[in-house]
Amino acid sequence: MTNAAIRIDRHLTADDLAKTLRRDVHDGLTASPKELPPKWFYDEQGSALFERITELDEYYPTRSERAILTRRAAEIATVTGADTLVELGAGSGEKTRLLLDALHAAGNLRRFVPVDVSGDFLAEAAERIAADYPETVVHAVIADFERHLTLLPAEGRRLVAILGSTIGNHPPQRRRSLLTDLRATLTPDDRLLVGMDLVKEPARLRAAYDDASGVTAEFNRNVLRVLNRELGADFAPGDFAHLAVWDATAEWIEMRLRAQRDVCARVEALDLTVDFTAGEEMRTEISAKFRPETARADLAAAGLALEHWWTDPAGDFALALARPD
Ligand code: SAH
Ligand code: AVI
Repeated sequence: MTNAAIRIDRHLTADDLAKTLRRDVHDGLTASPKELPPKWFYDEQGSALFERITELDEYYPTRSERAILTRRAAEIATVTGADTLVELGAGSGEKTRLLLDALHAAGNLRRFVPVDVSGDFLAEAAERIAADYPETVVHAVIADFERHLTLLPAEGRRLVAILGSTIGNHPPQRRRSLLTDLRATLTPDDRLLVGMDLVKEPARLRAAYDDASGVTAEFNRNVLRVLNRELGADFAPGDFAHLAVWDATAEWIEMRLRAQRDVCARVEALDLTVDFTAGEEMRTEISAKFRPETARADLAAAGLALEHWWTDPAGDFALALARPD
């Protein structure tokens, strides 16, 4: 049976995307130190590179989160009573199938709403899921969850999920304002499920973000390819080395690109010339690691009460289930 009930909304138009990218890149490349937001990693190639990262031996978060979902999905379906799964930053939605299966087994599943900035990748993933869940309405939304939360479908009893520790790619203030904005869209019956990577030995963290086969390095440098294609920039990605640094005070991994020599890059669409001195580092991502107390405090600050905290057997990763307080 094919699924006729697939719908794709686009709140992020090509024009909007171009404007936001220009602003972010202009602000980031003229700041000191230079910085680029991680959102721009995810063109078609970046999304595919992220999928490869999830299969690396060193990158435990996906496997750990999958282990929790395998063990807890049925319980999540029961305690939430959700009939609609909204997933922010859905990517391929592969792990999400565990939740969809559990909601289906509980007899409740009606709707899946995957949300992502990576439009083509999302549309392909939504088609695959729609084919495999013929009785479920798949309503994909191409949107920026930092700006378009109020435009997301509000029907049903919703479980809103942010998996993979994507919440950790935002600095603490931004993370709390994102959760606050999200809280404002929830009804009393809705629930929020957040995947959070936990603080652990720095060596394991560094290896997870600097794998031996160099896939994460390619993912990091991919942001330069996005700038070349979308903004007519002339970065030579090979001029930049990939770095993964553990900041023990902030408790986050920082990915950076370090200029291997003096680089003078032109960003045609911004009419901007940017100089990097040899050794200069530009931050491209933070990936915060959580403790139960920081997670609870972030949720509480946003008006969300922690209902359940599940970890994998090794204690590497957690899933937090929260309700509006
Ligand atoms: N949830 C998946 C994918 C994580 S990768 C997993 O756990 O494996 C992060 C995903 O979030 C990417 O698909 C990226 O395109 C998306 N993303 C990042 N910032 C976003 C934003 N501001 N709005 C919507 N999607 C975003
Ligand atoms: C999507 N996000 C949670 C990933 C992370 O682990 O912070 C992105 C990533 N960056 C490098 N490897 C994976």
